[in-house]
Amino acid sequence: MKKIPRRVWLEISRDVLTSNFNAVSNKVSPCEVMPVLKANSYGLGVLPIAETLKEAGAMRFGVAEPYEALQLLPLERSIHILSSILPEEVEPMIEAGITIPVASLESAQLINRTAEKLHKFATVHFKVDTGMGRLGILYNDAYETISKAHGLPGLISEGIFSHFSMAYERTSPVTLEQINKFKTLLMQLSKAGKHFKYVHIANSDAINNFPESYHPPFNMVRTGINLHGAFDAEGNRSIPIQPAISLKTRLTAVRKLPAGSCIGYGHTYKLKEKTRIGTISAGYADGLPLSLSNQGNVIIRDRLCPIIGRVSMDYTNVSLKDAPEAQVGDDVTCLGATESNCITIESWAELKNTHPYEIICSFGNRVERRYI
Ligand SMILES: Cc1ncc(COP(=O)(O)O)c(C=O)c1O
Repeated sequence: MKKIPRRVWLEISRDVLTSNFNAVSNKVSPCEVMPVLKANSYGLGVLPIAETLKEAGAMRFGVAEPYEALQLLPLERSIHILSSILPEEVEPMIEAGITIPVASLESAQLINRTAEKLHKFATVHFKVDTGMGRLGILYNDAYETISKAHGLPGLISEGIFSHFSMAYERTSPVTLEQINKFKTLLMQLSKAGKHFKYVHIANSDAINNFPESYHPPFNMVRTGINLHGAFDAEGNRSIPIQPAISLKTRLTAVRKLPAGSCIGYGHTYKLKEKTRIGTISAGYADGLPLSLSNQGNVIIRDRLCPIIGRVSMDYTNVSLKDAPEAQVGDDVTCLGATESNCITIESWAELKNTHPYEIICSFGNRVERRYI
């Protein structure tokens, strides 16, 4: 049977991913950049993105949990679990050579015992909670815990890291407090002869807002959203990155509806005049936020076409008043840029009253990922 092209697709530009990686690398040089590719690279498809970033020079990747770590083994790069590890996951992760986070003395001891049993070494990075309030060794316990764990014979204590809770807010004292606490701890550990090859704390927000997070003692950063070409909703945008993704679909129907016609579920829009209406083949199942209803736009033939009525699961209606030549089958840009128009992830996030991360992670299963 002849292959039918998919109705909705994401175009993910490998060139833009590469140039974004280079832009972040230039900004933080000589720090190393660890791309964070958790959640299937924020939903965009982890393997092609990892391959692209490996070609761009990435030496390691960060993920959230073991399943994601194992997926990346074929790339033959260091894979770091950044969050947590369950006891039964320790052995397979050591076997696979994954870099494991240490978040307690008990966990360090278990990793050590397991490594010795396997006649292997486990590479670990100590995860310190300097104020994120989520995972890691509590700051007040960190010196003691790390001092005890650092020399365990089965461990290669390669790194130490922490994570920011609100580095998007330049004026908040919280991030500087986290940095200062971390530096104090490093100094104490250094005095006791405990040193680390890699010291890292910065995420995208910090790289944009807190230069002190990518200067010594820090020598690595972890970045996710900036590689995909988006910024957090708040804070500076100080890296010259480009949007790497466009969401596209097709125009599946064009109809002229008389004045007074009501459009879609709930009849939330009533035509004031006879209007050419287009129906595009994408809805909230594909990641179009419901809040675009009567508020957002799509681009057809390089013209902005307002969404009218409520976004439904599979289809969305738009006014073709400003694109009179639009025809069934036309490509429709829901997110992304054309020659003279652009719809950004950030603008969707604002309409949905959320942050860009949720938008990027919300494209549906039906959406084909095309790497171009
Ligand atoms: C521990 C850790 N480091 C780094 C990142 C990368 O964050 P961002 O996408 O904001 O750069 C994340 C993602 O939330 C994370 O959980």
